[in-house]
Amino acid sequence: MSVHKHIFLIGFMGSGKSTVGTLLAERLNLPFLDSDREIEKKKGKSITEIFSQDGEAVFREMEMEFLEKLESIEPSVIAVGGGLPVNENALPLMHEMGLVIYLNTSLLTLLKRLREEKAQRPLLRDIDDAEFHPFVEDLLSRRVHFYKQAKLIMPNERNSPNELVERLEKELIKLNF
Ligand code: S3P
Repeated sequence: MSVHKHIFLIGFMGSGKSTVGTLLAERLNLPFLDSDREIEKKKGKSITEIFSQDGEAVFREMEMEFLEKLESIEPSVIAVGGGLPVNENALPLMHEMGLVIYLNTSLLTLLKRLREEKAQRPLLRDIDDAEFHPFVEDLLSRRVHFYKQAKLIMPNERNSPNELVERLEKELIKLNF
């Protein structure tokens, strides 16, 4: 029997956590949860609205509340927002409850994806084009140290989501998940 209960996917915005998480959950026949979507359901509004109406601090508290409730649910695949692992209590809790996997995507790939989705992302939507690259680079560099505390680091670069899920499944077998 595996010691891991949940599978957590962590990584920067745009690293593919939701896409890969959905596919992985299907393959493993487990429920899939996304912290942002669960918080939106609970609040009845979008992440962008929560940031602008309630403030980022309220959102960060809701992320931790979401994490703490996972103790009592069935084993699941869980994609967590890119900022959640920065909370000092988050990674210890995730390690306690499951296997933490970092989807490691290069700055250049992230920039390409995020430029197209900028409007839907409260942390990025007000950043000027000229500031976009340095802003993302700086935020990523301040977070990588947290992401790298994952048990498993999976590059998610020039592969399709299905290819990555196949590689992940092999790694999970090696880890007796
Ligand atoms: C955030 C990432 C987003 C979302 C919010 C803040 C962050 O989630 O939680 O916009 O601080 O990196 P994704 O990483 O799922 O895009």
